[in-house]
Formats: sequence, C-alpha cells, structure tokens
Amino acid sequence: MSSNKTLDILHDENNKTVNKIQEKIIVLDFGGQYNQLIARRVRECDVYCEVRPYNISIEKIKEFNPKGIIFTGGPSSVYTEGAPMCDTKIFELGVPILGICYGSQLMAHMLGGKVGTADVSEYGKTYIDVDRESKLFSGLKFKDNVGNRTVCWMSHTDSIKEVPQGFKIVANSDNCPVAAMENEEKELYAIQYHPEVEHTEYGKDIIKNFLYSICGCKGQWKVESFVDNMVKDIREKVGDGKVLLALSGGVDSSVAAVLLSKAVGKQLTCIFVDHGLLRKDEGDEVEKVFTQLYKDLNFVRVNVQQRFYSKLAGVTEPETKRKIIGEEFIRVFEEEAKKIGKVDFLAQGTIYPDVIESGLGKAAVIKSHHNVGGLPDYVDFKEIIEPLRLLFKDEVRKVGLELGLPEFLVMRQPFPGPGLAIRIIGEVTEQKVHIVQDADAIYREEIDKAGIAGEINQYFAALTDMKSVGVMGDERSYDYAVALRAVTTTDFMTAEAVHLPWEVLDVVTNRIVNEVEHVNRVFYDCTGKPPATIELE
Ligand code: XMP
Repeated sequence: MSSNKTLDILHDENNKTVNKIQEKIIVLDFGGQYNQLIARRVRECDVYCEVRPYNISIEKIKEFNPKGIIFTGGPSSVYTEGAPMCDTKIFELGVPILGICYGSQLMAHMLGGKVGTADVSEYGKTYIDVDRESKLFSGLKFKDNVGNRTVCWMSHTDSIKEVPQGFKIVANSDNCPVAAMENEEKELYAIQYHPEVEHTEYGKDIIKNFLYSICGCKGQWKVESFVDNMVKDIREKVGDGKVLLALSGGVDSSVAAVLLSKAVGKQLTCIFVDHGLLRKDEGDEVEKVFTQLYKDLNFVRVNVQQRFYSKLAGVTEPETKRKIIGEEFIRVFEEEAKKIGKVDFLAQGTIYPDVIESGLGKAAVIKSHHNVGGLPDYVDFKEIIEPLRLLFKDEVRKVGLELGLPEFLVMRQPFPGPGLAIRIIGEVTEQKVHIVQDADAIYREEIDKAGIAGEINQYFAALTDMKSVGVMGDERSYDYAVALRAVTTTDFMTAEAVHLPWEVLDVVTNRIVNEVEHVNRVFYDCTGKPPATIELE
C-alpha cells in the first residue's frame, strides 16, 4: 500500500512548470461567484494566474512572485465583523493590484476610504461613464467611438462612499459615484462592477489593460510552451518508472493520456473500463482513437458491461447506483492493475477547477458530490501525477488539439462518471441502456445537423420510469417515455433550459418513436437548475 494517497491539493507552488513561468498573477479569492471566471479571463489574455485564498501570507505571495494581484468579489460587507481581509502589507509590495466588487470596497476600506450601504443597489446591466485617460480604460474602442458611456454588469448593495487619500474616481454610474477609482502612482485600481462577466462591454479589454499596460505582462502563457515544459517535467519525474491511468474517454483523462504518452511512451498503461453505461458506440470509438492514433501507449480495454448490469439489478435509488458504480469501477481497476504488476505513478486527469473547488477552504464554492472518485486501495504506487492540474477546461481542450486528439473527443460535452445509469430513472437494465443510447444518438445527430451544438452546454436523452399507452399502426402500445434535456450554463451549478427550435424537436421526436423500439412518447424538459438538476438523477 502506498503511504502517499492523499492529494496534496495546493502543491502548485512547488510545481516546476509554474516556476518556469515568468509572468504570474495571483487572484485572491474572497468568495465571490465569479472568481473562477476572473482567473479564466486572465488566462485567456495569455497570462498565467492562480487562485489563492484571501488570507495567504505575504511570504507566500512573495515566493510566487506575481506581476499583479487581483482581489475578487465576495458576498460579505467589509465593515461587518469577520469579513474576509487580506494582509495590509499587500499594498506595500509595489505590485499592481486590481480590486473587483468586494475587492474594490476592501481596497477603499483598508486604505482609509469609506464604504457603506449603497443608496441604490445596482444589479444587472448598468451605464457608466469612464475616464478615458485612466490606464484601465485607455484604447477601448467604444462602438460609436464617441463619448465615455459604456455598459457594465453591476451586482452590489454596498458601495465606496469616500475614496482613500491619493485616489481619484475614474468611473461612475447614475447611482454609484465610485464605479472605479485609481491611484496611478501606487498602481492600485478598483472597479465596482464585473469586467469578467460577458455583459460588461470591453470587460476583457479592461482586464487586458490591467495585465499589459499596468502590470507589464507580455502574454507568455501559451499552450505550446505548457506542453513542452510539462513533457520535460513528467520525463524528469517519472524517469524509467511505470505510470498507470484510468482512462474514461472523457476530455480530461484523454488529454492526460496523450500528454503522458508523449512524455513517457510505453511506460504508460491506460485502463479503460467499459462499464456498459457509455453513450452509443463510445467504447469502440475510444478504443479506436487510442489504439490507432496513439500506438505508443499500452491501452487496455476491460469489457465488464454484464458485471455492472448485474450489480445494478434491482437498484433504483440514485445515490446507491452512484456508489455501486464508483466502487465496482475501483475494484475492476485494481484487478487490472494487479495484472500489470508494480506501478510507480498513478496518473489522474484532475484539472484546475477541481483544485480550486477542493482546496481553497471556506471562501471557495464547493461543488457537491461530483467527481469525488475514490482512489484504489490495493494499487501500489509511489506518487500521484496530475499533468493537467494547472489548466482550465478550455486550456485542456487546446492541449488536446495541440497533441492531435480528434475534435469529437476534445470538444465533447461533459458526461457523468456513472454514465447512463443516472439518465435512466429507476432500475438499470441492459434493454433500457440500449433504448437510451439509441435515443440519445439520434438526438445528438439532429442537434449537430441543425448546427446548434455550440450554443448548448449539455444535451442528452434520458429514460423516464414511466410507461404509457400509445398507438402504433393499428396496435395499442404500452411503452417507455424518453425525456430530452438541453441546457446552457457557465458553471453547471445553475442552468437554463434551452429554447430548442420546434422543428428540431419535431424531427428528433419522430425519429425516436419510429427508430427506437419500446418508446412511444417523447418529452422535453423545460426546467432550469434550480429547481431541477441537469441530470435526471
Ligand atoms: P447536476 O445533475 O448535479 O449535474 O445538475 C451538474 C454536472 O455534473 C455532472 N454530474 C456528474 N458527474 N458524476 C460525475 O462525474 C456524477 O455522479 C454526476 N452527477 C452529475 C452532470 O453531467 C453535469 O455536467
């Protein structure tokens, strides 16, 4: 048994690839809902950043050596007891700081300004007038290119009442006198609204201005250099050791597989457990990609469909299904790993949002039960290796494309670990799996044909536990009802049902009832999350 089975979640400061990066930004997390989005926007501007808890020590910040610091928003009021505060010495580091929303109020409060309840709370799209002389707003090409008025996304009940000494106001709205303030000499900037949100016009340009004009970044964070650096790091770490990876065929584990394979070739073994709950033909597709395109890795497909169906027989409770599948998965993985013998490293496709969500303590949003995969107890390994733990999903996809993975695999929508078992309400049977696979394949094909896949974040067919009376030809039928789901979401914590064109629903419905046996009715799920969830179980 390995002694090192807990994940050292915040070990990134020791990561060699991070150390090699010249331009780094720290995003200090004060608990706001858009914090990850801020970090993603910074990365989209080709600058590397990491999210750290608001109470990180000054020493750690110095060690990280950031070119700039961003304070995020957060739900607290700066003047209430116990409100999250950072170390005041942060303002003496000589590193540019951008405060956003709560972060802007915090900057005002900590530097001697006044913050209080806003006379009028603002929520949603709001007009502001900005000072174009400010480095934050310089060079913004307003649509009509006249005037200083632009639209931003506000969400606040407190506001800055008095700016600290040395600061000047550089934006205001009708109801918010200090929508932005700055102390150019000390390189301190604060904005009340949310530049990271798409509804803010020129939001990304403002972030870019902060990074490039104020912090002096040049945009060195590029996928190609990440790949080169990471491949070198992996080689150095693994030496001539053996690496084992559970490959699900999802985006993260597939990209991890090809990255590791580029680094250590035949020393990598990927175990692909086909539990019979995958989408139609998915098992064969994954096998084809990894055996034909990447001949340099050991790919082991384990066909254990029947084993899973029998474990799931008679089980109807969703969490019990999840538990059974999770446990059985690990058992299968262990059995296969034993056949390989001793391995040195267990690789995982952990990505940066998983790291943020599990590692930041009380300020962070913790996603519920998802992706909390157990680690196999009986696989003997020295260390866990997580080559994607620095990357956001869109970056993982870029790495995948860079490494030659086919687009259908890299751009895939998310698919839950327990697979179709949580898209079949009630008991899972082989017959129901085939019904939902066939219906889902038709649905996906038609969405693709309609050219709307890019506008939807997740869409799938599910099988209700309902049978109803229908008529087929002259015959009475008593068959299943399929439910179709399609949602848009940014973080999968909340979601909205997509207004699918009726023509698409019509074609899909006709095809499903005609082509899929045992289905005589199709429903469209119009519910958002909350109150529903994205999956049906
Ligand atoms: P819900 O249904 O909770 O789903 O709104 C949010 C996102 O999480 C995925 N999901 C899961 N992923 N194991 C997973 O790996 C699970 O048990 C699980 N349940 C839901 C779901 O597909 C959606 O993207």
